[in-house]
Amino acid sequence: ASSLLRPSASVSATYSEAIQLADVDWDNLGFGIQPTDYMYFAKCDQGGTFSKGELKRFGNIELNPSAGVLNYGQGLFEGLKAYRKEDGNILLFRPEENALRMKMGAERMCMPSPSVEQFVEAVKDTVLANKRWIPPQGKGSLYIRPLLMGSGAVLGLAPAPEYTFLIYVSPVGNYFKEGLSPINLIVENDLHRATPGGTGGVKTIGNYAAVLKAQSAAKAKGYSDVLYLDCVHKRYLEEVSSCNIFVVKGNIISTPSIKGTILPGITRKSIIDVAQSQGFQVEERLVSVDELVDADEVFCTGTAVVVSPVGSVTYLGKKVSYGDGIGKVSQQLYNVLTSLQMGLAEDTLNWTVEL
Ligand code: COI
Repeated sequence: ASSLLRPSASVSATYSEAIQLADVDWDNLGFGIQPTDYMYFAKCDQGGTFSKGELKRFGNIELNPSAGVLNYGQGLFEGLKAYRKEDGNILLFRPEENALRMKMGAERMCMPSPSVEQFVEAVKDTVLANKRWIPPQGKGSLYIRPLLMGSGAVLGLAPAPEYTFLIYVSPVGNYFKEGLSPINLIVENDLHRATPGGTGGVKTIGNYAAVLKAQSAAKAKGYSDVLYLDCVHKRYLEEVSSCNIFVVKGNIISTPSIKGTILPGITRKSIIDVAQSQGFQVEERLVSVDELVDADEVFCTGTAVVVSPVGSVTYLGKKVSYGDGIGKVSQQLYNVLTSLQMGLAEDTLNWTVEL
């Protein structure tokens, strides 16, 4: 059933030669780092304005051992994707949204941020410079990873005196090792991802280091990932380590509302609009863990995971399953979203940027 989600594609030899693809096993892309040709690099000192930025050959970077990011975690990242269209042109999906989210996060982390325009132009330049690494349509996408970090030296706890804005890219396929098959989640009851007033609502690097312990333990027990509950009541769904969560019951699709402890996913936001356009009622609210028991379907959304169906959720030793294959609603929303992202459907919402 998992093949249902994947749009079909065959890469003819003539096509790959015409667009000079990199030498990659396009049929076996996972979500791993593949060094590519160029990365974007811009710096900003105390003045708060970023330098023009340049493309450099992809490679290691030099950092002072007392850089703010290394010592105090003053860093943010973003994630977006470029898809190759059938005609060979390239599509970005809502890059201004990532630029705005980085701005919001930078404010929380006491960092200057590039302008929305510089961010989007930098993404475009980096993607075009690495064009040969964008997978053929249907084989995956080019994952784009913008980083913003305190690269200046500090010793006492303070914002760094210099910042680096960097973008690198890597061709990717499916995020979970299950491929597109439903994933199995375990609800974490002791460790928490975010606290009210903390940084859970921004894409700071520390949020992701903080989930590794529970994630490793879950994986060791055979689960795909961890579903977090709110840390006050230990009752309401928050998110999975790397993605947002949705619960389907009849025609109603519910997802935890954004309230500072949940990452405002761009795929989350897009899926809400897509679901409404498909006639579903979408509720952003507190979603109790008890609701998982009666749900028809559960799915996750994120740039990396796209729309990932959930096969089961285990909570306090009890496992709730959602059937063998991919849920009907998850499939429908996946199809509509990815058709837009890949340029297979008309983009009436103006979400894509063509290069
Ligand atoms: C993304 O989905 O782009 C993310 O940033 C999550 C990351 C853990 C892969």
